Amino acid sequence: MRIAITGANGLLGGEAVAQAAVDHEVLALGRGPCRLPAGRYAWASADLADGRSLEAALLAFRPEAVLHAGAATDVDGCEREPAMAWRTNVGGTEQAARACAALGARLVAVSTDYVFDGEAGPYAEEDLPNPRGVYARTKRCGEEAALLLDPGCAVARVAVVYGGTPGARPTFASQVVEKLSRGEPVKAFSDQLVSTTLASSGAARCLELLLETRYAGVLHLSDATVVDRVEFARRVAARFGLSGQIIPVKTAEVKLPAPRPLRGGLKVDRAAALLRHRPLTLDQALDLFHAEWMTRSAG
Ligand SMILES: NC(=O)c1ccc[n+]([C@@H]2O[C@H](COP(=O)([O-])OP(=O)(O)OC[C@H]3O[C@@H](n4cnc5c(N)ncnc54)[C@H](OP(=O)(O)O)[C@@H]3O)[C@@H](O)[C@H]2O)c1
Repeated sequence: MRIAITGANGLLGGEAVAQAAVDHEVLALGRGPCRLPAGRYAWASADLADGRSLEAALLAFRPEAVLHAGAATDVDGCEREPAMAWRTNVGGTEQAARACAALGARLVAVSTDYVFDGEAGPYAEEDLPNPRGVYARTKRCGEEAALLLDPGCAVARVAVVYGGTPGARPTFASQVVEKLSRGEPVKAFSDQLVSTTLASSGAARCLELLLETRYAGVLHLSDATVVDRVEFARRVAARFGLSGQIIPVKTAEVKLPAPRPLRGGLKVDRAAALLRHRPLTLDQALDLFHAEWMTRSAG
């Protein structure tokens, strides 16, 4: 199958390229040069924010399926630059949806638990979004753009993506490992309840949703366990055999430009019933994260 994957230099997109390229013809799309390990895929640079280059790249490649994982994901950066966030997260998704509708290609657009306000999580697919902050609002508008312009598409919501993807940005979990390994303390929010998503595990579910189902509408695709961030950090540390200081911090004690949902998290029962790649428990995901980390550190 011909598959295009956006955000290919990112955590989720990079994992999806590696997995999809095993059996499919893959066009990896990112901003500027490729930072992925070499593999059986083609690369094209397309700026999601410029209004046309993603759509043009997709129309030229003529994919049968598109995983749209590219986005402006720096929540505080989006708060400072709302026009950039809008062009990237709404405009980029609009381009992907327009191209897929024109080509008759299957689209999965990746979104976020931040579409919820975090007053009463964990949330199911039918719960009403109430996004707070620029990142959250642009991602919600991106969901609407995808669902409106390409009604057969699926919107896959994930949360707190982490992994050891080569070339991708550091994550909370990778920083826990690196800081504790160096003997440095780690600060973690004690009042943010979240779902988490190991990038390779989330990518596998996104690809199954894309390639093996015709599911249309919103689906929650994070891993299964809902934890606060202190507990998440402790479980990461325990899995890596690291001791050291994890300092609980309240969200209100830190001046952050963008609001954070406090009681968040995603219910994933629907994905568990639909997909072979079931959402993992945190322990299962951390076993995999540890194995990936060790393999990549050795290589
Ligand atoms: N990260 C999380 O915790 C999280 C949580 C919930 C939902 N999500 C969603 O999951 C999806 C995948 O995110 P991720 O975790 O893989 O994030 P990521 O690692 O930040 O990857 C996003 C990718 O999008 C690319 N990008 C940003 N602006 C672009 C532009 N103007 N043109 C082209 N590419 C651009 C980035 O390029 P560069 O590498 O060049 O910056 C990056 O490679 C996104 O839809 C995100 O909103 C993420």
